[in-house]
Amino acid sequence: MSGLLAGKRLLVTGVITDQSIAFSVARLAQQNGAQVVLTGFGRLSLVERFAKRLPEPAPVIELDVTNADHLAGLADKVREHVDGLDGVVHSIGFAPQSCLGGGFLDAPWEDVATAVHVSTYSYKSLAMAALPLMGAGSSVVGLTFDATKAWPVYDWMGVAKAGLESASRYLALHLGPKGIRSNLVSAGPLRTMAARSIPGFEQFEQTWTDRAPLGWSLTDQEPAARACLALLSDWFPATTGEIIHVDGGYHALGA
Ligand SMILES: NC(=O)c1ccc[n+]([C@@H]2O[C@H](COP(=O)([O-])OP(=O)(O)OC[C@H]3O[C@@H](n4cnc5c(N)ncnc54)[C@H](O)[C@@H]3O)[C@@H](O)[C@H]2O)c1
Repeated sequence: MSGLLAGKRLLVTGVITDQSIAFSVARLAQQNGAQVVLTGFGRLSLVERFAKRLPEPAPVIELDVTNADHLAGLADKVREHVDGLDGVVHSIGFAPQSCLGGGFLDAPWEDVATAVHVSTYSYKSLAMAALPLMGAGSSVVGLTFDATKAWPVYDWMGVAKAGLESASRYLALHLGPKGIRSNLVSAGPLRTMAARSIPGFEQFEQTWTDRAPLGWSLTDQEPAARACLALLSDWFPATTGEIIHVDGGYHALGA
């Protein structure tokens, strides 16, 4: 097998449709020589339907990242398909509606806690659940939306992403001695199911497409997925705790 990820065994979370960033990661990874195992949350039959549309139909393991039993059993379930993992992709985010769309000042703690549990803490939980399968040279990759700024309508999801960005640095700190890397891709706005659930998300869309120096496509998940592949590959062997922006250059601009 040839390709950027030849022989790599990957666990990819976060496919819910073929628009999911994770779907593009899984497709490109297979096309570049990787063996892919997916996890699915909730609507498993839907995930399985899309798993069959990949170049190679991929197995799907049920995983709710807030479910301790799912996490505890994950490594054994993955072992039914591959004998180890070279990479794990965290492509998971969720916040209750109260936390989004301008609700920052009123969202109750219980809802904020859910957002942080699913979107932030789960990065560590997933990595630890997969750790028994990973060795030196393995790579954990997650997806963020630039948390250095306060965006309109992103509200507590922005806070959760700030936590994710920090969690990735701490994972880099704690797993570095084992030779395991942790990096994030900071993507511009993409029209996925998660994005559509954010009221007013279209406010980002227009400014991004108008202002990004390289331009920006709201419907092309491939640039973000390619960056994930690069970070999963052997071509960033000394890079960890890093955030790679795949946003058409928007983050580099002043107001
Ligand atoms: N779409 C964008 O504009 C954009 C931009 C930057 C970063 N991101 C990030 O990319 C990642 C993937 O999102 P997407 O845009 O592809 O949307 P998506 O809706 O396709 O994917 C989100 C995934 O999270 C999963 N999920 C939610 N709760 C879960 C739980 N408890 N356990 C396990 N999985 C759970 C969903 O099943 C879904 O597969 C997210 O972290 C998101 O914040 C998205």
